[in-house]
Amino acid sequence: MSRGFLTPEVKEEIRRRTDLVALVGAHAALKRSGRYYKGLCPFHQEKTPSFHVDAERGLFHCFGCGAGGDVFDFVMRTANLTFAEAAHELARRAGVVIDTSPEAAQRASERQQLLRALDAAHDYFRTALAGPRGKRARDYLARRGVNETVAARFGLGYAPPGWDGLLGALGGRGYAPAVLEAAGLVAARQGGDGYFDMFRDRLIFPIMDLQERVVAFGGRALDDSEPKYLNSRESAAFSKGRLLYALAQAREAVRERGQVLVVEGYMDALTCHQFGFQNAVASLGTALTPEQVALLRRFTSDVVFVYDADQAGQAAAERGLQLCEEAEMVARVAALPPGEDPDAFLRKHGAEAFSRMVATALPMFEYRLQVAAERHDPAGREGRIALIDEMLTVIQSVANPVRAAEYLRTLAGRFGVPEDALRQRLRSRKRAGRPTGPQAGTAGPRGDRAREEAERLLLHLMVQEPPRRAEIAANLRPESFALPAHQALAAALFAAPRAGVHEIREGLDDAAAALLARLAFEPPPVTARDKERAAAEAVRYLVHHEPAAAERERVWAAIQAAQASGDEAELRRLQAAYAGLIVAGKRGR
Ligand code: UTP
Ligand code: MN
Repeated sequence: MSRGFLTPEVKEEIRRRTDLVALVGAHAALKRSGRYYKGLCPFHQEKTPSFHVDAERGLFHCFGCGAGGDVFDFVMRTANLTFAEAAHELARRAGVVIDTSPEAAQRASERQQLLRALDAAHDYFRTALAGPRGKRARDYLARRGVNETVAARFGLGYAPPGWDGLLGALGGRGYAPAVLEAAGLVAARQGGDGYFDMFRDRLIFPIMDLQERVVAFGGRALDDSEPKYLNSRESAAFSKGRLLYALAQAREAVRERGQVLVVEGYMDALTCHQFGFQNAVASLGTALTPEQVALLRRFTSDVVFVYDADQAGQAAAERGLQLCEEAEMVARVAALPPGEDPDAFLRKHGAEAFSRMVATALPMFEYRLQVAAERHDPAGREGRIALIDEMLTVIQSVANPVRAAEYLRTLAGRFGVPEDALRQRLRSRKRAGRPTGPQAGTAGPRGDRAREEAERLLLHLMVQEPPRRAEIAANLRPESFALPAHQALAAALFAAPRAGVHEIREGLDDAAAALLARLAFEPPPVTARDKERAAAEAVRYLVHHEPAAAERERVWAAIQAAQASGDEAELRRLQAAYAGLIVAGKRGR
C-alpha cells in the first residue's frame, strides 16, 4: 500500500513519538559516534559497522548495502510488513490514533471505490468464463494446457465480445461510468458521449496486490489480433512498476524455498505454477524496477531470471542483475534455449529439465562473461583483449568493492592475466574519465561520470542547504537532471524550497527516497572553500549538457496519447524511443 493513506501530519506524529535508536537497538548494537549512532547493519553481513542512525532526523542509512529510510522503512524491512501494516504497528506502540483527515478519507474512499469496481468486474469476468459465452476462452485454455486448479488459483476470467457488456452489468449495479473509467475498465467514446468496454473477447488475467485485491487486468486476445495483451493503464489502484504478477500466489513458496523465479509473461508464470514452481512471478514484459526488486527483497535475496533468450530478454536480465547487485541480492540468469519461453520449455521438456536449468543458472559475472564472449571470440588474442576490457567495464559498475575485487580475481584467473595489469588498466580508464572500449556507451548509469557528479553535487547542496534551492532552480529544471532518481529528487526539491527531509520524502519513489537518505548523511563531496566554485561549475555543466528535453517532451506526449487510445504497439515503440533519449541524455551527447 502506498504511503498516501496516512496524512503527513499523522506520519510526522508517529515519527516524533518513536525512538528510532531504541527500535534499531533491538536488532543491532549501536554506539554513539559524533552526531550519529553506528553499528553492524542488520540487513547485510558485515564485519565493520557501516550502519548509521541519525536520531535527530529519524533516519537510518547503511553505507555498505545502501539500505536507508525512516522508522517506517525500518519496520517494513525487519518485520516484512507493508507500509500500512508497519504504520499501524508503530501507531499502536506510539499511542497515535490513525485517524484520517477528510481529504485523506476522501482519497482513500476513491481508491476503495476503484477496488470495489475492479472486484465487481472480476466477478463478471469469472462468471462469463464459467458460463455459456465462455466456451471460446475455455477451449483456448484447454488448447494451451492450463488446468482448472491453476485457472481458479489465478482467478482467470473472460471478457465476452461486445462493446458494453461490462458497462451494462456494472452500471446496473450502481457503478458510475466515471469510476469504471478511472479503474481503466471502460473508455470514453471519441467525440460523442458514452463509454465502451476496454476488454472485449479476451482471456482475463487479474493482477493482484499482496493483499490479493484485484488492482488491474491483463487481457489476452484469443486469436492473433493486436495487441496480444491489453493491460489496464495505471490508476489510483495500480502502479505497474510497483508490483509483480503472481507474487500474491507465490509469496509462500518464495519464502519456503528461499528463492524466486522471475519470468516475463502471464502464461509463463501460470505454467511455472502448474508444473510445481509456485515460486514464480512475472515482471510483465518490462525490465524490473527498483521498487520491484525492493519488493522481492522482502521475501528472499535469491533471484533467478528466466527470461527469453532474445535481445529484449537479455537486456531485461542485465538490468535486473544490475538492480539486484545494487540491492546486495544474489541474482542469476537461467539459459532458455533460443525461441522458447518458460511456458514452452516446461511443456516441451518437463519439470525436471526446468529444475536443472534453474539450478545451473549463471551468476551475474559469469552471465556477463558469457554474453561478452559471444561478441568477442576469446580464442584469438584481440578478442580476448576486447573481452577483458568489456568485463572491466562490468567490474567498474559494481558498487561493493569487495565484490569488485573478487570479480577482478576471477577475471585474472580465467584469462591468465596478472591482477596487477587489470588494476592498472582500470586506473588508467578511470583517469580518462570514462570507460573506454567499444562498449563504453552502454556502460549504464556510470557511463558519464562528469554529469553524474555534477548532478549529485547540486542535489547534495540542495538537500543539506535548503536556501540554495531557489538559486539552483533559477538556472535548471528537473529535466536538466538525466538520471531518473536525480530528476525525481530535483523536482521535489525545486517544488519545496523550504521543506525538510521528511516532507520531501513523501512524494518520492523508493529509488529517489533512498538517494535522498544517502545525501542527507554523506559529507559534501567538496570542501567548504571549493563549494561555491564547484556548484557554479556543476550548474554550467548541466546547462550546456541539457538532455534533449524538447524531444523527450514530444515523445512523452505521444506516449500518453498512445496510452489513452490503447495502441500498444505504438506505445512500445515510443517507450523504446523515450528510453533511447534518456540514455543519449546521460551520455551528455
Ligand atoms: P510475450 O510476447 O513473450 O508473450 O510477452 P507471452 O507471455 O509468451 O504470451 P503468450 O504465451 O503468447 O500468451 C511477454 C509479456 O509481455 C507483455 C505481457 O505481460 C506478456 O505476458 N505484453 C506482451 C504486453 O503487455 N502486451 C503485448 O502486446 C505483448
Ligand atoms: Mn509464451
